[in-house]
Amino acid sequence: MTPAPHGPHEPSDEYFIPALRFRVLTRAYDALLSVTLDEARHKRALIEQAAIAPGHAVLDLGCGTGTLTRLIKGAHADASVTGLDLDPEALGIARHKAADAGLDITFVQGSATAPPFEPASFDRVLTSLVLHHLVREQKQRALAAAWSLLRRDGELHVADWGRPLDLLMKLASLPVRLLDGFAPTRDNVEGNLPALLREAGFVDVAETRSARTLYGTLTHLRARRPA
Ligand SMILES: C[S@@+](CC[C@H](N)C(=O)[O-])C[C@H]1O[C@@H](n2cnc3c(N)ncnc32)[C@H](O)[C@@H]1O
Repeated sequence: MTPAPHGPHEPSDEYFIPALRFRVLTRAYDALLSVTLDEARHKRALIEQAAIAPGHAVLDLGCGTGTLTRLIKGAHADASVTGLDLDPEALGIARHKAADAGLDITFVQGSATAPPFEPASFDRVLTSLVLHHLVREQKQRALAAAWSLLRRDGELHVADWGRPLDLLMKLASLPVRLLDGFAPTRDNVEGNLPALLREAGFVDVAETRSARTLYGTLTHLRARRPA
């Protein structure tokens, strides 16, 4: 893992890159992803790997417009499900979608780097397409926070852009890198997420799935906070 470049200004806990970089595009996010990413299939695979049990407390870290959050609660009515995001507009969309589906989900505004929850509050933390919005220092803080939020033996499940499987996937990843920035996406495409998870204290870190998509290689990872 190459050292992270240091800029003069570290991003604050309130700074975030919106779902499609520009706020005006947030309302188009769901339509774009469902048409171009086969979003539900990838998100369902992440939920399946999380093996959520009745009574589990589950956090969707960086829930955005709440598609994953809604799918979690839809599949696990007995789990208590919380979505966290910094973007009030995305959270507004997420709340509407949950209400329309009649699902009891708690949505909270806050940063993945300083989440407003007590330590050891969750059995599962899921996070999808968020880490590539964070520069390394933010990734490290978000992963350390996820570790603290998990109960002993709790699990973190990540879906995000990973090391490109081949040249075509490397080319495909360029639009996302241009849109969200080369600095926040660097550790993703260099394949550094497993090392960052281990550095945060997680054990049993594994890449469970790599899928080719229009936007590059989508990787799923699993990690556990030791008992
Ligand atoms: C590409 S969207 C992914 C949304 C959703 N998880 C999904 O899979 O569709 C990235 C989300 O991360 C959120 N985000 C970025 N930085 C954040 C931070 N520091 N804390 C909380 N959310 C953040 C953005 O507001 C946005 O909603």
